[in-house]
Amino acid sequence: VVDIRKLYAESGMFTYDPGFTSTASCESGITFIDGDAGLLMHRGYKIEDLAEHSDFMEVCYLLLYGELPDKDQKDKFLHDITYHTMVHEQLIQLFRGFRRDAHPMAVMVGVVGALSAFYHDSTDITDPHQRMVASYRLIAKMPTIAAMAYKYTVGQPFVYPRNDLSYAENFLHMTFSVPCEDFKISPTIARAMDRIFILHADHEQNASTSTVRLAGSSGANPFACIAAGIACLWGPAHGGANEAVLQMLDEIGTVDRIPEFLARAKDKNDPFRLMGFGHRVYKNYDPRAKVMQQTCHEVLDELGVKNEPMLKLAMELERIALEDPYFVDKKLFPNVDFYSGIILKALGFPVSMFTVLFALARTVGWVAQWNEMIGDPSQKIGRPRQLYTGAPRRAYVPLHKR
Ligand code: ACO
Repeated sequence: VVDIRKLYAESGMFTYDPGFTSTASCESGITFIDGDAGLLMHRGYKIEDLAEHSDFMEVCYLLLYGELPDKDQKDKFLHDITYHTMVHEQLIQLFRGFRRDAHPMAVMVGVVGALSAFYHDSTDITDPHQRMVASYRLIAKMPTIAAMAYKYTVGQPFVYPRNDLSYAENFLHMTFSVPCEDFKISPTIARAMDRIFILHADHEQNASTSTVRLAGSSGANPFACIAAGIACLWGPAHGGANEAVLQMLDEIGTVDRIPEFLARAKDKNDPFRLMGFGHRVYKNYDPRAKVMQQTCHEVLDELGVKNEPMLKLAMELERIALEDPYFVDKKLFPNVDFYSGIILKALGFPVSMFTVLFALARTVGWVAQWNEMIGDPSQKIGRPRQLYTGAPRRAYVPLHKR
């Protein structure tokens, strides 16, 4: 009989780290997080500075190329991205094959994965130019596909991109405009949308980005890799959390019921968790949550929704939780998802679209990480090992003797 533990012991260094809590899977120069300090930086720039002074297109350029663009570089980048905003007309047939009540994330996984069937020329990952073309295509087409997923589920005609609008404005236009109606986008709302995109642009080796890297490490084409990332993001412990926050706030209903739900969150026999609270890396306030809270106030003011009960409930929940020793001791603070759902709901997005918006914004992070990995000469196929806990070697027993 083979002693499996002895085999492991003899095989030299072997790390068992479920959930990769302390194992780096790669080197990366894109994003830095200091979870204890509540610090997030892209290419050395603090997220708060980017959210305040920059715009999403600049952040995309920064993530892809490592530097903020100068005026000419930015103009060219905007031109090149807008050049790719249309999707192949035949893709409409693919949309029509889905049930109208399909979850838009299910549609996103399918349609983005299918892009490799439409853009064959971008699937040659050995050519750095083609890798960048694929990246531009994904960044440019994601708002179009996301808006189409929305329009399809609500039964309205698809709206073609307008390249005279900014990235965020164009997305809002494709999502919310209807034929024969004048559609105006307030600069405050467009800015808020753009800021939400910035806040979600990248977050180093989270589950979906690691999925993109792992899929890409085998040489899979970029569209397939991003589809894998979208599938991973869909989970409620990751991108689905803002949807879960709204459901939770709905369930809590009124401020007086907060203590009851906090007690449930602390009860280890109750699976309930305070959604939008806690983070694998941040053991301090998530810096994105602060910007998100401020954006939430701006959007609600602009829409004239003063004293939105859900925002008041969320803020009160945050206040009470942050005075509770359970949350303080475990360093559980609001994360980026805690306030984003309230904003998106106020903007008119159905809950099912929340994770789609996250995927749209995270696409640049995914492609930047994918490009970094493919361009790294030391890159290897991702192949985690395991700690085998199954049966030891045994003799095969013929069927008639079992
Ligand atoms: N409510 C109550 N208790 C919590 C919460 C929470 N939201 N989050 C963590 N805890 C507790 C755990 O029960 C655990 O307690 P224990 O030490 O007594 O067993 C301790 O805090 C550590 O929690 P883990 O689950 O080990 O932490 P992990 O890093 O694995 O999980 C996660 C992080 C998944 C984000 C978790 O905090 C959670 O489920 N939060 C709610 C969902 C959420 O908001 N997800 C969005 C994450 S951000 C994003 O993806 C963009």
